[in-house]
Amino acid sequence: MTPTAAPSSSNPTGTLSAGTLPILRTVEDLRSQVAAWRREGLTVALVPTMGALHDGHLGLIRRGRELADRVVASVFVNPTQFAPHEDFDRYPRDEGGDAAKLASAGCHALYAPTVRAMYPQGFATAISVGGPAEGLCGTFRPQMFGGVALVVTKLFLQALPDVAVFGEKDYQQLMVIRRFTRDLDIPVRVEGLPTVREADGLAMSSRNAYLSADERARAPELNRALTAAAAALAGGAEVDGALTGIRGRIAEAGFGTIDYVELRDAETLEPVSAVTRPARLLAAAWMGKARLIDNVPVIPAG
Ligand code: PAJ
Repeated sequence: MTPTAAPSSSNPTGTLSAGTLPILRTVEDLRSQVAAWRREGLTVALVPTMGALHDGHLGLIRRGRELADRVVASVFVNPTQFAPHEDFDRYPRDEGGDAAKLASAGCHALYAPTVRAMYPQGFATAISVGGPAEGLCGTFRPQMFGGVALVVTKLFLQALPDVAVFGEKDYQQLMVIRRFTRDLDIPVRVEGLPTVREADGLAMSSRNAYLSADERARAPELNRALTAAAAALAGGAEVDGALTGIRGRIAEAGFGTIDYVELRDAETLEPVSAVTRPARLLAAAWMGKARLIDNVPVIPAG
């Protein structure tokens, strides 16, 4: 962990820099940085992350740079979106490495608050999300989307960016964020970025670090099975057969528990039984100790 510098006359907010990247620890520091940019007439993009950054995250930073003059990334492993038995404690953390990667991708500031700063003693507020939060990961990780909504709402209100960028890798999360941002009239534009993949198709994920070499070699079958089924569905294949085919193929490849394989409407995330509008094929399955998720678009032919 990088220590926070003591405030001084040359560094009034007590922030540290990684190269040219200021590291902001408090909401006051974040707000004064954003206010300084606003005074210069600059627009601001926010990229929320939980760190252990990879090229997927850095793709969001690059997209942020296209969409706004300044990009601030947050790194915060958010305890409210993890259930007690989940991997909050062992979630990979590498602030020094993250700061260096962010600087090299052209990010302008890193916001890395402490848990206590985000959730002070006596914190007593929750957000309840429905609609696109129902089913899929919402069934298997019931805590998650309420916690995501809480922390993303806080980040939006703390930074008040013009735009925020999220990955389609977490497609349901992106749809939940779009929905509560609209429902709560939060004046932030939510942009999605297509999933960034390894050369063999595996979606980049901080949790891929949990895979052994053998599991890593098997993991891309999830994407291959989804992609093949999406092509078949777009060409008119029957939905139940396609979903059963994916299950068989990934079980064969060595995936253990399959949490879900489903076809949903691409926008509302409601279940669909035929492809008449843009749809999304989504799956979550366990490979060893890693719960992998992936999704692909299904565009009706013609
Ligand atoms: P995290 O898993 O760190 O992901 C941060 C952002 O990076 C999310 O928008 C996620 O969809 C995106 N991302 C991750 N892997 C990607 C890939 N391979 N291609 C494209 N984008 C990718 O998602 C979270 O953190 C948290 O739930 C958060 C939104 C920060 C709230 O705590």
